[in-house]
Amino acid sequence: MKIVALFSVLLAATTAQAQVKGKPFGFAAGVTGGGNAKPAAPGSLQELAQWLSDSVPRTILIDREWNFLGTEGKTSQKCCSTKTTTCEGGTSKGQAWIQDQCDGQWIPCTFDNAPRTPIDVGSNKSLLGVGTKGVIRGKGLRVTNGNKNVIIQNIHFTDLNPQYVWGGDAITLTDCDQIWIDHNKFSLIGREHIVSGWKPAGHVTISNNDFDGRTPWSVGCNGKHYWTLLLIGEKDYYTFAGNWVHDVSGRAPHMGTSKTSSENFFHGVNNYFQNIGGHAFDVDDNTWLLLEGNAFDSVTTPITDTTLKSGAAVYNVPDPSAGSGCNQAIGRNCEVNQVSKSGQFPPLTEASVLQKAGSYKSSLPPFTPVADVPKSVMGYAGIGRI
Ligand SMILES: *[C@@H]1O[C@H](CO)[C@@H](O)[C@H](O)[C@H]1NC(C)=O
Repeated sequence: MKIVALFSVLLAATTAQAQVKGKPFGFAAGVTGGGNAKPAAPGSLQELAQWLSDSVPRTILIDREWNFLGTEGKTSQKCCSTKTTTCEGGTSKGQAWIQDQCDGQWIPCTFDNAPRTPIDVGSNKSLLGVGTKGVIRGKGLRVTNGNKNVIIQNIHFTDLNPQYVWGGDAITLTDCDQIWIDHNKFSLIGREHIVSGWKPAGHVTISNNDFDGRTPWSVGCNGKHYWTLLLIGEKDYYTFAGNWVHDVSGRAPHMGTSKTSSENFFHGVNNYFQNIGGHAFDVDDNTWLLLEGNAFDSVTTPITDTTLKSGAAVYNVPDPSAGSGCNQAIGRNCEVNQVSKSGQFPPLTEASVLQKAGSYKSSLPPFTPVADVPKSVMGYAGIGRI
């Protein structure tokens, strides 16, 4: 009996290895995903899709590359070509637009159907890549219909019709809550790496991801993907921490909208924005952003001019005194941001941000010193690092 008991302890320990690594923090604190559901790896694309979308709590292991390309056929039609497609004078090819109207020229195009419709993920799921093996090619995920409590960790999403705008989004959040997106990599996406809206995305932590914008096709015509993060849900709380956002050219992120009565709070802490040939933050109305301890390196436009006029409320800790200005509201100092070889990062110290931050105090993780950020983020973000 004793030996059996010991054996089951060892077995439990081995199984725990395949469980979620680390703990969700920030606004996704308390998210449990599949909880104690026994980790299992699906044996076919159909099984993967079924396990993702059913209403059974699951810990789904991605232990190989699942390739959805070709599984739903291809479409040949006409696409729109504009100057961001032809890219005269640019350093890369552009993207053609899959859309019904065209203010440029119609051109023939063929795209894969699978990346254009995401798989809907049910409640109470952990989706975990194993080592460096977890790849989902040609398909995105969506959490919607009121589903919640989802963990997506250590998975590389890639190859969603990258030559086409509207080719596919990697992760879509709308009408959902309690989402932890951790240690993933995104590359060669058609449209957004992560998109929310128009309904609420709820409480979301996006941590330690590698947003890799390198592409042969960019509407920025510079080999850097433009559509990175579009966060425009109706009532959203984001913790955005430890991410490496690099070689992109826009919307990194775009936040906020005046088209709905939206309200977005965003705590951006300890991220590394690197080689951005375009803009990082482009923020619209109805948003409150606390940006601290982020490093910007070779970012053409850390924050757009339109942000400054839009009604967005930003506190970006321009100096140590703005750092200690956090104390009263959140019970600790905020960390300054570090900007090198980059455009202007105008000092913004909107008091309403601290007011809001104060009411979410327990959801604001501590920072690490900004000087450590580039190295630690590059060593820790993405897949195979946990
Ligand atoms: C998810 O888990 C929660 C907590 O255990 C439970 O109340 C809820 O019914 C589950 N949802 C589904 C769809 O199984």
